[in-house]
Amino acid sequence: MAFNHWMILLFSVWANITWAHGESLVELDHAPLNIENRDQLLRGAKHFQQVCLTCHSMHYLRYDDITQEAGIIKERMPVWDDLSWGGRPPPDLSLIVKRRTADWLYTFLRAYYIDDTRPTGVNNLVWPNTSMPNPFISRQGTQQLLISEAHLHDSKGKYRWSQVLKLDRPGQMSGEEFDQYIDDIVNYLVYAADPSYLKREAYGPWVIGYLLILLFFVARLSMSYWDDVKRKHHMK
Ligand code: HEC
Repeated sequence: MAFNHWMILLFSVWANITWAHGESLVELDHAPLNIENRDQLLRGAKHFQQVCLTCHSMHYLRYDDITQEAGIIKERMPVWDDLSWGGRPPPDLSLIVKRRTADWLYTFLRAYYIDDTRPTGVNNLVWPNTSMPNPFISRQGTQQLLISEAHLHDSKGKYRWSQVLKLDRPGQMSGEEFDQYIDDIVNYLVYAADPSYLKREAYGPWVIGYLLILLFFVARLSMSYWDDVKRKHHMK
């Protein structure tokens, strides 16, 4: 590869990393993923269907049984005009983990706080000034920012969201329950971007097993050919 190709490659990697994390005012939490757990995936898909599907479509999914069972179907998906939502309508989330990271999503969805200067009444530490309203007020409760916004911008990335936000009115869920609830949704979104992952993993051992058995017979066959070749050679 020529030097300028390397530069382009490096730049795109850098641009990707900064795009995925850049705006966040806080350090991102690590999302615990478990995309082999079917029960958890189904739970996440159901939460998604109940809460997110009112605003977000999932058009680019291949229809796997978990998605179907949770009721994430074309007929239920919203269609937005480009000019709606002040020009920032809710985007399709099928491939969101290829654009943002699981950690970004996991932190973003828990980092809302009350901000009366915003049209939605809330703001977000990971995506400042987003036009997405907080869909979790009844579950998580409401959070207040403990430090000034100016200080927050100066100290970009120094704090974790939980250090600078305080729950001032609890919701129906405890902190742990809410973390688990969000983790389920993120886990589902990671899986949804690549639904054949589970199948691939399940087929893997069978394919390897098949190849090993085949190898055994091919080896036997090859040995018997060579035996023949040698015998004929001796007979000459
Ligand atoms: C009331 C409507 C509404 C609901 C419900 C909603 N969102 Fe959103 N969401 C939006 C809007 C509007 C945007 C665009 C925000 C912007 O551009 O600032 C958005 C943006 C996003 C983005 C960022 C996409 C990007 O381009 O980077 C993610 C991720 C997201 N939403 C996830 C979710 C998840 C997960 C749920 C369910 C738990 C959910 N949203 C529920 C309205 C909604």
